[in-house]
This record gives sequence, structure tokens and C-alpha cells, in this order.
Amino acid sequence: NWTPAQIIEDQISRVRDQVGDRHVLLGLSGGVDSSVVAALLHKAIGDQLTCVFVDNGLLRKAEGDQVMETFAKHMGVRVIRVDAEDLFLGKLEGEADPEAKRKIIGNTFIDVFDTEAAKIEGVDFLAQGTIYPDVIESAAAKTGKAHVIKSHHNVGGLPETMKLKLVEPLRELFKDEVRKLGVELGLPYDMVYRHPFPGPGLGVRILGEVKKEYADILREADAIFIEELHNAGWYHKTSQAFAVFLPVKSVGVVGDGRRYEWVIALRAVETIDFMTARWAHLPYELLEKVSNRIINEITGVSRVTYDVSSKPPATIEWE
Ligand code: XMP
Repeated sequence: NWTPAQIIEDQISRVRDQVGDRHVLLGLSGGVDSSVVAALLHKAIGDQLTCVFVDNGLLRKAEGDQVMETFAKHMGVRVIRVDAEDLFLGKLEGEADPEAKRKIIGNTFIDVFDTEAAKIEGVDFLAQGTIYPDVIESAAAKTGKAHVIKSHHNVGGLPETMKLKLVEPLRELFKDEVRKLGVELGLPYDMVYRHPFPGPGLGVRILGEVKKEYADILREADAIFIEELHNAGWYHKTSQAFAVFLPVKSVGVVGDGRRYEWVIALRAVETIDFMTARWAHLPYELLEKVSNRIINEITGVSRVTYDVSSKPPATIEWE
């Protein structure tokens, strides 16, 4: 049984042996896995690492700034931030099918990443935050054993044309081990113990067609929900919690008039493995506060609902 410090030392020497004096590229998403890889590689090879952070316009509130703050400002990691909101939203225009949206977001990510990679000279390696469960899942997908596989760009999304060798220092680790590494490497606790966030981001939390107006509303609603979960001490008692944008108009009364505005659904679950999940039994007072804040603070939302569906049969995400 190895301690996090020993695993880090071991991986640092393995990475140094593998890459020598060559350059490594990493797609940094702000999620736990790629963040831990960034911190680990920075420690191992310093400026031989360049991270690319793609803002696809479907991230949570202030996410891009937080990533830059943590990695570029505090740790001195070389991070290229690409503002690709217009590109992603443009490609998604008119598309309402969830799996098609996932493909568009995944492919656009690869295009953007590829373009950035081509600008950096002398890159021979691509680092990825692949962890052991990803390895298992993609093996199952290849042999057709997996029951339902949603398109992922975590494993196997490497552009063929890049011909880069892979650096995957977390390949043998489970999530809880990766988190311990993150803490040991000095990453902020809140980043390391943050709920998982899907690759397609808010793209699959806006039902149907994605629009900037919807994403902006959803970002605000989600931020309020998460903030109040933290305030009430419930964030770490749930495994995943988020807001969903429902593109239906529901009536609200404002003064003497009736106004038809959007609906926000709140989702919070408790789960061990994300294969099954129970809806979180949040206190009514907490739900009331979140609902009041969302309706009062966000223009365009007239109604908030709480999702009381368990998985199975309902999935955690709404799409
Ligand atoms: P579901 O909705 O299938 O989600 O119950 C189980 C877990 O997987 C996440 N999820 C995704 N993650 N790309 C990802 O990287 C995706 O397309 C995707 N779809 C779902 C979901 O957030 C939950 O943690």
C-alpha cells in the first residue's frame, strides 16, 4: 500500500524518464483528473508542460477564471486559455438531439485542441487524465460489453494526425486515490472534492437546442444552487448536484399581469458509483431558499422544480 507522496515520487521519475527533455501538451478541463495531472506534471517537468484550457461557453459560472487563477497565477503553470464560446454555440445551433450535441461538442473540442497544439513547437507527448475506471469502460466499449455508452472524449479521442505519445500518470488509480494525490500536490480542497461535471457541460443540461441566453440563465441558477448547498453544509453530502434548463414557458404573476417564463429543475443525488443513485433528500428550507433566490434574482425564470427521480430508471443527467 503506497502513500500519495510515494505515488507522486514514483510517477515524477517515470514521467521524467518517459519524456526526457521533450514537451508535453495537456487538455486542462478544470475537473479533478486533468487538474491532478497538470499539478503532477508541472512538478515533474515544469515548463516542458503546456496546458490548453478550452472555454466552450458551456462551463459553470467563473470556471475559466478559477482554472487560470489556480494554475497560471498561483502555480505558474503555462496555460493557454482558448475562448471558443462562439465557435461551440455556432456549431450547436439548430441541434436538439442529445447524442448529436455530445458529438458536436466532442469533435469541436478536438478541432480546437488540434489547432492550438499545431501552434506549439516541438511537442511529442500528450498527457491525459485517464484513470483506471476510464480504462475499464473503454475496454468494455470496444468489446461491446458495455450496456449503454455515452460518447466520451476522455479516452481514444486523440486526433490521429497528431501522432503524439501518451502520458497517463493516473491510469492505474481510482478516483479517491487521485483526490488524495491532488491534496498532496497542494491543489485547493474545493477543486479536488468538487462534484463531477460532464465533458459536454451545460450542453446536456439545457434540454434540446443550446442557446447563449439559456446557458447564461442556467449558469446563474446553478451557481445559486451550489452556493446554497455549501452554505447549508449539504454540498459534500451529495455526490452530484446541478440545475437543468427546461425550454418551456410557465406562467407567473407579476403585478396585475401574467408573465410566461422559463423553468429550472434542480437535481441532487447520492451515489457511490454513479451507476445507481438516489435523489438527495434535501431539507425543504434549503429548497425554498434556492427557489426564491433563483426566481427573484434571475430574470426570465418563473418556476423551479426539484427532481425526485432515482436511477434507474432515470439517469443522473436529464439528457
Ligand atoms: P448518467 O446521466 O448516465 O450519468 O446517469 C452518470 C455520470 O456520468 C456523467 N455523464 C457524462 N460525463 N460525458 C461525461 O464526461 C458525458 O457525455 C456524460 N453524460 C453523463 C454524469 O454527469 C454522471 O456523473
